[in-house]
Amino acid sequence: MGKTTIIAIAGASASGKSLFASTVYQELVAEIGGTGIAILNEDAYYRDQSHLTFEQRQLTNYDHPSAFEHELLVEHLAALSNGHTIEMPQYSYKTHTRIPETIKVQPGKVIMVEGILLLNDPHLRKLFDISVFMDTPLDVCLLRRMIRDVEERGRTVQSVAEQYEETVRPAFFEFILPSKQFADLVVTRGGQNEIAIDLIKSKIRQLLAE
Ligand code: CTP
Repeated sequence: MGKTTIIAIAGASASGKSLFASTVYQELVAEIGGTGIAILNEDAYYRDQSHLTFEQRQLTNYDHPSAFEHELLVEHLAALSNGHTIEMPQYSYKTHTRIPETIKVQPGKVIMVEGILLLNDPHLRKLFDISVFMDTPLDVCLLRRMIRDVEERGRTVQSVAEQYEETVRPAFFEFILPSKQFADLVVTRGGQNEIAIDLIKSKIRQLLAE
């Protein structure tokens, strides 16, 4: 199969990482088919908490690096690079834990992975060939997060505001923003930046043609 290229897309919560990654992926699938491209989410690698009660799970700091099972993500990225299929976990934000079903991900020439703390972890950084950071203003992220978490993740306005002050904003300044220095590309306007989307698509087309 040849060398696998891993593209990481990082940035603040609700900065447009998944829109960016899925737009690149879907536009390429429409153009040339999905063979050779895989897409993973760091969120799928939140630690399994099924042994805890719902109340205990609500106390977890989901913006701290320790909330993620990055060891498993490292293992899966390495396995995909070596041509093996993996079973990506699936995560529920409503129950704060993994669900029993997994998603089969086939190896490909290009793997895209998106998540808040990808560039903060030196073990993961070593695996990335191209690192992209979504540089979206925090107020824009907060508004998006508020609407998304209430509409899609079963939260109240009050709980989103409290979590934002307690963990989301502090973690942005402690872990996410300092990791911007490791990016090869810094993208403004997140998933709406068509020029950046086109650049990544061109790079992937080139890699797939090699
Ligand atoms: N999170 C949460 N409850 C959980 C697990 C995670 O509230 N049980 C929150 C964390 O606080 C973290 C966020 O989920 O800040 C990470 O997801 P986010 O990056 O916002 O989602 P994406 O869809 O990947 O972001 P984007 O909008 O940038 O695509």
